Amino acid sequence: MKTLIKGGRLIDPANNRDGLYDLVIEKRKVQAVAKPGELSAKSNEGAKIIDARGLIVAPGFIDMHVHFREPGFEYKETIETGCQSAAAGGFTSVATMPNTNPVNDTRSVTEFILRKAEEKGIVNVYPIGAITQGLRGEKLSEMGDLKDAGVVAYSDDGRPVMNNELMRRAFEYSKMFGLPCIQHSEMLDLTEDGCMNEGLVSTELGLKGMPTEAEDIMVYRDICLLPKTGGRLHVAHISSGNSVELVRQAKAKGLPVTCEVAPHHFALTDEAVKDYDPNAKMSPPLRNKSDIEAIREGLKDDTIDIIATDHAPHDLVDKQVEFDRACFGIVGLETALPLTLRLVNENVFSMSKMIEKFTSRPAEIFNLDRGALGVGKIADIVIFDPDAEYVIDVQQFKSRSKNSPFDGWRVKGKVIRTIVAGKTVFSASSN
Ligand code: DOR
Repeated sequence: MKTLIKGGRLIDPANNRDGLYDLVIEKRKVQAVAKPGELSAKSNEGAKIIDARGLIVAPGFIDMHVHFREPGFEYKETIETGCQSAAAGGFTSVATMPNTNPVNDTRSVTEFILRKAEEKGIVNVYPIGAITQGLRGEKLSEMGDLKDAGVVAYSDDGRPVMNNELMRRAFEYSKMFGLPCIQHSEMLDLTEDGCMNEGLVSTELGLKGMPTEAEDIMVYRDICLLPKTGGRLHVAHISSGNSVELVRQAKAKGLPVTCEVAPHHFALTDEAVKDYDPNAKMSPPLRNKSDIEAIREGLKDDTIDIIATDHAPHDLVDKQVEFDRACFGIVGLETALPLTLRLVNENVFSMSKMIEKFTSRPAEIFNLDRGALGVGKIADIVIFDPDAEYVIDVQQFKSRSKNSPFDGWRVKGKVIRTIVAGKTVFSASSN
């Protein structure tokens, strides 16, 4: 079965393309990319036509930071519902954090995740293996075995690796296996019992704060550990302006460090906590205006490499409680595109740069054969309308959880269709 995506604006940063192109897909792959009118009648013959006029066609988005809760917490999200949520958000690939139950610290859990994802056949799932056994921060996991089973990186996300010696060893081993370590940078002794950013708002509300220094110190520690170990550091969900500066300086020295930001960290400040909304609670917490300014600068000058959602589904029972007792985290897959398009509309970066940070750049960092639409590549594609306006309604989310602070926001930017290996896995018209 042949498909022709016709008349759209193709933005494919990996191949330096931004313009009107037609795309032919056959046998799971991109068969042809051509300027309008250039395709021979023969190459279109019998093709199903997708009219993409007025729409943007891009490589499917890649989210390197999601929490699907299977195994262990299926009432919050399963691999299937998580993948459906990803597809609805325009993501064709996701990397799943290991804080499941059991933790993904062994081959059997990695294989379980891969098998489930394959069975459901919705989007590509790349498991991330734990750095330490049980995320306890005491002993390294079987990192080599995890790599053989198919993990694409190591992380204890949700928790930091506090022990310096252990982290040093983690960098050494991860280098042997050619994979990066993703750090949840948080000095726990500085954030203990904290539930929001430390600052004016936390003082006014009488809530215990988590200072940005907790992030900065660990980012700096990990950067210090890189030269001798030869490890690769990827900083998860960067939220502090000072941390952005630390990454900038490390990159200037040529150290192998990359980082990501989650849309909520540039869309909201800690003011959002003022009415004690548990959906404004996440780790790291929402920061202040100056941090957002630094994040925007970091996105502009590529200090911040990629955008990742930190999709963290939680059920009502975990969230509809007192603010300080609620779980950390919000769902993000189905709001990432419109929230990030706001930065394009505010000229923080171009549309093409945004797409690079959602596609080719994560593929490059994590060595995935995805994120580009050249001839012969797997046809993972998103088609979206950057101008379509609508109101976010969490009840419409495919995710099993609805914990989002963006419910009711009027936004621009709608996913029209998501295609994985040539097959439509989400279509706005049938939803
Ligand atoms: O807010 C968060 N929620 N941050 C994390 O690092 C973990 C995540 C979760 O697993 O719920």
